[in-house]
Amino acid sequence: MFTINENYLKLPGSYLFSDIARRIAAYQEANPDKEILRLGIGDVTQPLAPAIIEALHGAVEEMAHADTFHGYAPDRGYDFLRTVIAKKDFQKRGCSIEADEIFISDGAKCDSGNIQEILGMDNKIAVCDPVYPVYVDTNVMAGRTGQYDPKTQSFDGMIYMPCTAENNFVPEFPKEKPDVIYLCFPNNPTGGTITKPQLQEWVDYANKNGILIIYDAAYEAYITEEDLPHSIYECEGAKTCAIELRSFSKNAGFTGVRLGFAVVPKELKAGGVSLNDLWARRHGTKYNGAPYIVQKAGAAVYTEAGQAQVKEQVAYYMRNAHTIYRELKAAGYSVYGGVNAPYVWLKTPGNQTSWEFFDTLLKEANVVGTPGSGFGAHGEGYFRLSAFGTYENTKKAMERILKM
Ligand SMILES: Cc1ncc(COP(=O)(O)O)c(C=O)c1O
Repeated sequence: MFTINENYLKLPGSYLFSDIARRIAAYQEANPDKEILRLGIGDVTQPLAPAIIEALHGAVEEMAHADTFHGYAPDRGYDFLRTVIAKKDFQKRGCSIEADEIFISDGAKCDSGNIQEILGMDNKIAVCDPVYPVYVDTNVMAGRTGQYDPKTQSFDGMIYMPCTAENNFVPEFPKEKPDVIYLCFPNNPTGGTITKPQLQEWVDYANKNGILIIYDAAYEAYITEEDLPHSIYECEGAKTCAIELRSFSKNAGFTGVRLGFAVVPKELKAGGVSLNDLWARRHGTKYNGAPYIVQKAGAAVYTEAGQAQVKEQVAYYMRNAHTIYRELKAAGYSVYGGVNAPYVWLKTPGNQTSWEFFDTLLKEANVVGTPGSGFGAHGEGYFRLSAFGTYENTKKAMERILKM
């Protein structure tokens, strides 16, 4: 008789956003006349920029003719895309990343889930708390943790690094030494950032202790303050200890198009084995590449017109973030993030739990956000508002919240 991967049974209940959807559906059914404004899920709302649409049309047309048709993409992705990424995202910032260290994928979620496949099962994993849940759940699925304890909202065997207002949402080195650390800056959900000296400390700590950092820079485009690192490879020594994940979802609106990449430096080795070789092997065996059409669209992001247009789109969302931040702060809320990230993270007022505040907001303002506790035990007492809505809805949501 066949059996299942029992590690999946360790995962508690339903996914955070399914819980939220259920509560919204119940409220909407009881109150069909109410207009609900959604500042919850981190999906974009603006259409793809014209330069990207033009590239998509052009690539579709190419697929219609035998002499320009494209079948399977190269394992690591097309050269035209990897070369422009290496140049514009890394070399321009002084990071010596080459095209053959870049692996094109269909997004950072898949990469952050899949990357652990090339790591040993006995690796001890450390994550920030609160955290983007994919890092935790995929390691649970793989069997790197024990059981879930609902009381502490944590998995046995996983190291949680608290990120709260007290440490400005940048974790301290954990007491117990991990083998792999997931870091994400600018951060989802807290909107927090890390300075270059702080990131350098993590890189030095990792190199000294033989630790791998998986650095998720999905929100890099939202950095507005100078001197904040856009890539971990801006830090000295990062190529021997870090993999970086990037996404086209939030900087260019590709959430429904699907494109991202992982940077696996050639110097990154464990026991003399190159992780770049291992990831290439994994990619070659298990992945047939992001579509040609989508990779052409990705390359359009780096053209002069594409750059100007996506910058404008990011600025649009950041205007929402600033609006949420400014108005809530003026109203007396304790607010964080929102300056270099499309998320505002706030302290729930009056000692309400995250879910209590979710219900208050839904019932009194008909506004949906995301309870901080859904991202981990240290997210309790916090709440996330997303800046990815339209400006009009963001303004309206703020007016309603301020009237509560
Ligand atoms: C931290 C983080 N990484 C990765 C992703 C997913 O990126 P992608 O759409 O490229 O899969 C998200 C999406 O919300 C995210 O918040």
